[in-house]
Amino acid sequence: MKHLLSAADLDAATATLVLDTAAEMASLAGREVKKLPTLRGRTVVNLFYEDSTRTRISFEAAAKRLSADVINFSAKGSSVSKGESLKDTALTLQAMGADAVVIRHPASGAPHRLATWVEGSVLNAGDGTHEHPTQALLDAYTMRSRLGRLAGLKVAVVGDVLHSRVARSNVALLATLGAKVTLVGPPTLIPVDLRTEVCYDLDSVLSDTDVVMMLRVQRERMNDSYFPSEREYARRYGLDGPRMRKLPEHAIVMHPGPMNRGMEIAPEVADSARSTIVEQVANGVSVRMAVLYLLLGGKS
Ligand code: CP
Repeated sequence: MKHLLSAADLDAATATLVLDTAAEMASLAGREVKKLPTLRGRTVVNLFYEDSTRTRISFEAAAKRLSADVINFSAKGSSVSKGESLKDTALTLQAMGADAVVIRHPASGAPHRLATWVEGSVLNAGDGTHEHPTQALLDAYTMRSRLGRLAGLKVAVVGDVLHSRVARSNVALLATLGAKVTLVGPPTLIPVDLRTEVCYDLDSVLSDTDVVMMLRVQRERMNDSYFPSEREYARRYGLDGPRMRKLPEHAIVMHPGPMNRGMEIAPEVADSARSTIVEQVANGVSVRMAVLYLLLGGKS
């Protein structure tokens, strides 16, 4: 594997190798091994054309824990504002010695284009409404570590699926790993091209679900004409305390962040013992270490 562009590209053996490697990374961190020499002398560039807190910082932390040099590039404040293209930006970064480029871009497919221009590895950190493969890997890792397995798990992915690259990557990866995904949301926010079960009634799925993955309502990618009012959305599709109490005792609540507290998820739920939201962030570092290690480790 040279690049990580899409969760749909991962077969079960490769995805499981990433999760097992992430578990080893987490175990080392738990034993106070804070830094590994594996990527000493290698350069990882974080190329972010869209805002990010979790993904950018955890890729940076992951690369540094593997002893790589990290260059953070944000489109804001760069020559992108003077009209420089993605290709010219990429070639500039390559000339500076990038071994891997982690890219977030508003255009679906941008990481795939980048991979044709640069010699190093390309890692998709979220492209438009298309994919966010490391988020799906860290979500799968979190489910497996909380519930002990992925095969046979019933996962409800709830909310604004239409604009969610997290949902697309999760649908692909969870199917590969044997989980059963149901998309839940208003008909206007469920895409027609995702081949998995669909339900428009959140209350009807809760009692038979192992994982509820709430999605952020992405108003910035939306035409307001087809979004119900925030109050109506929260009433029909928000996960509040009474709905959470309909879940089986073992079930967990996930959210990739950032959250709209009070809209898709109530604070009482986000901060509850069932919530894995903070754990997902911590697991993201181990998973991104695993991905960087598997893509770059051993090469000189
Ligand atoms: N989950 C996620 O991608 O969060 P950020 O936008 O903060 O990176």
